[in-house]
Amino acid sequence: MRVYLDNNATTKVDPIVFKKMEPYFVKMYGNPNSLHQYGSETHPALKEAMDNLYAGLNANDEDDIIITSCATESNNWVLKGIYHDHIHNGDKNHIITTEVEHPAVMATCKFLETLGVEVTYLKVNEKGVIEASAVEDAITDKTALVSVMWANNETGMLFPIKEISEICKKKGVLFHSDAVQAIGKVEVNLKEVDVDFLSFSAHKFHGPKGVGGLYIKESQPLTSLLHGGEHMGGRRSGTLNVAGIVGMGEAMKLAVEYLDFEKSNVKKLRDYLEDELLKIEDTFVVGTKEERTPNTILISVRGIEGEAMLWDLNKAGIAASTGSACASEDLESNPVMEAIGAEADLAHTALRLSLSRFNTKEEIDYTIEVINKAVKRLRAISSTYSYAPSWHKSGL
Ligand SMILES: Cc1ncc(COP(=O)(O)O)c(C=O)c1O
Repeated sequence: MRVYLDNNATTKVDPIVFKKMEPYFVKMYGNPNSLHQYGSETHPALKEAMDNLYAGLNANDEDDIIITSCATESNNWVLKGIYHDHIHNGDKNHIITTEVEHPAVMATCKFLETLGVEVTYLKVNEKGVIEASAVEDAITDKTALVSVMWANNETGMLFPIKEISEICKKKGVLFHSDAVQAIGKVEVNLKEVDVDFLSFSAHKFHGPKGVGGLYIKESQPLTSLLHGGEHMGGRRSGTLNVAGIVGMGEAMKLAVEYLDFEKSNVKKLRDYLEDELLKIEDTFVVGTKEERTPNTILISVRGIEGEAMLWDLNKAGIAASTGSACASEDLESNPVMEAIGAEADLAHTALRLSLSRFNTKEEIDYTIEVINKAVKRLRAISSTYSYAPSWHKSGL
């Protein structure tokens, strides 16, 4: 059996999405900016896709949704754009973010620091989230932007985005949220949560890779990252990825339709998996079930290197992860586990299991069986684990 439990890394393209995209590769392949029929025949599908994106985020007509190549681009654009517009020649010099952002935010902030920007990386608590009040305390009259993720990619923990957005409004500071791990898993309603910028990526919600977006509230100015042929109203140049946009629009429509299913059926399967795995001695999960996206578990299995567990799982046909796919080629410990203050040996034991609407109970039962066997095998040969009862369960 093959079981895919790495949906926070990327997801399967929904066959409905794929079918919708197909004609735009082989039949209607024109450049939408061309004046001939090949160009214009792409327009209805592009409009439908954009309508789905606006509806999915509950955005206003005055807001911009600009298509990018991925969320890494969207995050880079916001941070570098803010540097250009408000810091470079202005009187601001400060950005606030968290210590558990995805590398697409983290590495960009580190880069901006080399240009003289002051960045505050807010510390997370033992559940891996920040308190909204920490943002308020960190804001100064030099703060140009607050950037806080909607949901964490490793733990699934949801951040207090509504409260943070209210604080930013009150203080007159721009607010960006990386919502890559939230869309399709929890409601992202921009009429209820007032953000200035929001990043997202189609391949995380059963759309294609290579296409993402940046929501920009009420056409807020933001200097372009890609200059060129003035596509997307001059905000982001480059020939439109028609099939990708069509796919992302359809994926967003389905994400909205499946939200209740995600909250009930996917969550039920995730909770079942979690409960069964927590029956294994000396395991713990970061954050509570209700405060996380319904599909994610970050579990620590004491005494077992995450990579060793992945090896056993992979041999049995199960795909999981030790954390962010972008950082998973090195054997470093899980950065979120480190941030929450896990002991050094525990930070190496992280196993991330992330489900989707395509997983079945049969697959989850098989996974439980395989993990139980792997734990027995790996603990028996582990030099750091002993079944001695003296081990204290509090762990953290
Ligand atoms: C929270 C978060 N932000 C950004 C990204 C980057 O997305 P993309 O692959 O579209 O560049 C990811 C991907 O793992 C993510 O989980």
